[in-house]
Amino acid sequence: MSADALKREAAAMALDHVEGGMRLGLGTGSTASWFVRLLADKVKGGLDVIGVPTSEATAALAREVGVRLTTLDDVGGLDLTVDGTDEFDPALNLVKGGGGALLREKIVASDSERMIVIADDSKRVKALGAFPLPIEVVTFGAGATLRAVEKAAASVGLSGPLVFRSRADGSRYVTDQGNWIVDASFRQISDPKALALALSGIPGVVEHGLFIDLASMIILAGAGGVERIDP
Ligand code: 5RP
Repeated sequence: MSADALKREAAAMALDHVEGGMRLGLGTGSTASWFVRLLADKVKGGLDVIGVPTSEATAALAREVGVRLTTLDDVGGLDLTVDGTDEFDPALNLVKGGGGALLREKIVASDSERMIVIADDSKRVKALGAFPLPIEVVTFGAGATLRAVEKAAASVGLSGPLVFRSRADGSRYVTDQGNWIVDASFRQISDPKALALALSGIPGVVEHGLFIDLASMIILAGAGGVERIDP
């Protein structure tokens, strides 16, 4: 089965946790897009839910397929967020932000009672860090922030190339919030909590892609079938 087919399988299983009347956080990326599409099929069949998108891309998709949208401020809290991930470890810590939406994704997940992460089995790792960690930084003084990130990483024993994310045309990638992203290749993050804490103390860092204690469950699709992983 292709990776895309596995992503679809995981997304389909997440629908079992959706009930009428729910306020849903809608993730970003190819796996989360499957969830939005499959959710739309249920909506057409009469399921009444409302969603808060984690990116402009997800908002556009939801509008296209007919999933009703609202904002976090209008609903006052979410029942469930369903989102993808770039990596997850045995403690269900995540690296997210490969699609550039980590800030809104973390705000939405943090305001949800539960977060279900849907993934194909390429996302399971023993230790986070093979996927470069996305760090969203404000554009003002971005060079200074980069140096501060380097120091913060060193304080927890990590180092590696830090690269401003670019678009295919070579221009700098800009997030939905108008910030830049630094992709940090630390290779192996042995203490994700310590790194998260160190990065959170840097003034120019808006948010980082380490999601600690946010995932309530992983729905993982692999060649052997779909598996549910609880913390
Ligand atoms: C976007 C994300 C995505 O969830 C992550 O990049 C996984 O994407 P995909 O489902 O396309 O593999 O964090 O910011």
